[in-house]
Amino acid sequence: MCGIVGYVGSQESAGILVDGLRKLEYRGYDSAGVAVHDGKQLQVVRAVGKLKNLASVLQESPLKGTTGLGHTRWATHGRPSEENAHPHVAGGVAVVHNGIIENHLELKAELASGGIEFSSDTDTEIVAHLIHRALKDSERLLDAVRVALRQIRGAYALAVLSESEPGQLVVARNASPLVLGVGDGESLCASDIPALLEHTRDVIFLEDGELAQLSADGIKIETLEGESVTREPKRINWSPMQAEKGGFKHFMLKEIFDQPRAVEDTLRGRLDLENGDVVPREMGIDEAAAKQIKRVCLLACGTSYHACLAGRYWMEQLARVPAHAELASEVRYREPVFGPEDLVIAVSQSGETADTLAAMKSAKEAGARVISVVNVLESAIPRAADGTLYTHAGPEIGVASTKCYTAQLVALLMLSVYLGRRRGTLSADKGRDVLQALVEVPEKIRITLESKDKVFEVARRYQHVQHMLFLGRGLGFPTALEGALKLKEISYAHAEGYAAGEMKHGPIALIDEDMPVAVVMPRDSQYEKTLSNLQEVRARDGQVIAIVSAGDPESAKIAEHVLEVPVAPDVVQPLLTVVPLQLLAYYIADLKGTDIDQPRNLAKTVTVE
Ligand code: AGP
Repeated sequence: MCGIVGYVGSQESAGILVDGLRKLEYRGYDSAGVAVHDGKQLQVVRAVGKLKNLASVLQESPLKGTTGLGHTRWATHGRPSEENAHPHVAGGVAVVHNGIIENHLELKAELASGGIEFSSDTDTEIVAHLIHRALKDSERLLDAVRVALRQIRGAYALAVLSESEPGQLVVARNASPLVLGVGDGESLCASDIPALLEHTRDVIFLEDGELAQLSADGIKIETLEGESVTREPKRINWSPMQAEKGGFKHFMLKEIFDQPRAVEDTLRGRLDLENGDVVPREMGIDEAAAKQIKRVCLLACGTSYHACLAGRYWMEQLARVPAHAELASEVRYREPVFGPEDLVIAVSQSGETADTLAAMKSAKEAGARVISVVNVLESAIPRAADGTLYTHAGPEIGVASTKCYTAQLVALLMLSVYLGRRRGTLSADKGRDVLQALVEVPEKIRITLESKDKVFEVARRYQHVQHMLFLGRGLGFPTALEGALKLKEISYAHAEGYAAGEMKHGPIALIDEDMPVAVVMPRDSQYEKTLSNLQEVRARDGQVIAIVSAGDPESAKIAEHVLEVPVAPDVVQPLLTVVPLQLLAYYIADLKGTDIDQPRNLAKTVTVE
């Protein structure tokens, strides 16, 4: 949570910082602030609420200076307020921080006993005081930061600016993301790549336990122990436009429409259609290991967990290996039993989700082979995994995940084919059928997106809805859960996803004329049974929105609204049926006027439990 950005170079920094923070606002938006060094002294401006509040203060009273740092906050310690907003300053040292200092209470008590007074409730202010104290006995800011870091425990990405050393920033990282931008006569840092792309595509990923000194002349990296580190920058190929709205009203809508491209990019270079196989490179598990595994455990949170539920079906069906999907937040405290015959797959858009990271680490410690499916390059989860299959969805800015969900589905289906081929449970012909169906998915998503106006009309009808049920069977069940999650996240309506077969065991009691029910019922092997559920809902006057395969004759007779997806093999249905539900949630939220890209109380990256 929280986004940090820093700039040092020859340009005025305040505008650059605010632009960078705009790209990071998905990480938190409880308050924002900047600190800029004008050559003589530090100037700090902070504002509660969204970045636009900070931007308007800066417009009225601009800050001058070519070195600065900025922060957008998702509150953990201390309520959202101006005092708790970053940067935090102690004696000419300004600090922005993403993460949690676990031993902040004991450090605070120790500093307080030395007469230090605090102006905020945050854990971060303690870091500023520690650095300020260490500066008295240190030659360089970098050394003072190192001394302070030795005293703190926890997760951090930090950027520090000192009044005494204009023209430089010191940054450090432990278990929170931080990327450095290598510019021409300028250096930058940020929590995520999109904040850097306006200035440079050459980036260095700082590792845990490293510090760096940024100046206009370049970047010097050292370890916490003082050893110098040489690391070549990596070139990022995303265009800045890929991180912009591109004419859409919201990032979420842009990302829904970006799904055909996200699927294509995630498939690119990974299929061997001739042999009905997936190329082994990047799969993170070799043939011998694929044969040895006795169980697959898919771990994730939120939307990524829904992708795991679909992954479980595919693993069982194609690779014939017992598979289960687990909520990472539950697994980590359950004393689960993992061992060398388990394949654990951690799935995450951000690659930073604290619960997923902790659960996968405990599986690894117990001897399981751990691979990950992640979107954000070099984030914490892939670093901790034995191998990673990256989804190439590109940056996802909307807090509600859409294109990363479909890209995760693609990755998990490819992994299932890969395992099935190696385990001898999937013939080349069958493998080819699955992969061919996958290759056709982007075009079928494009066709589905063409019916957006029809979805909008349904959304108009239900824009004031307060409760909605989502039903699905088999591979339709994860879609039902995901449709419900999308609706609650962005429209704040109460929504429940249920396995359609469970309806009679309770939820049917809710159904009356005021209860809209979205039923996911493409023409798959479960179609007849789901159709019966649809009839049961209609018999109780529930209003049905049916997500069906094009040309379905039955649903049109019964359902109030029918939203079609192109006909496709069962195995790829989740990649199609979710699209009308994403659009439905989006349009209902837009008609309600909620803050779609930054829904209340949420953050894109959940690096705390
Ligand atoms: C998705 O719409 C949500 N914002 C949320 O459930 C998310 O999927 C979850 O926090 C997991 O995040 P991750 O994929 O980055 O690990």
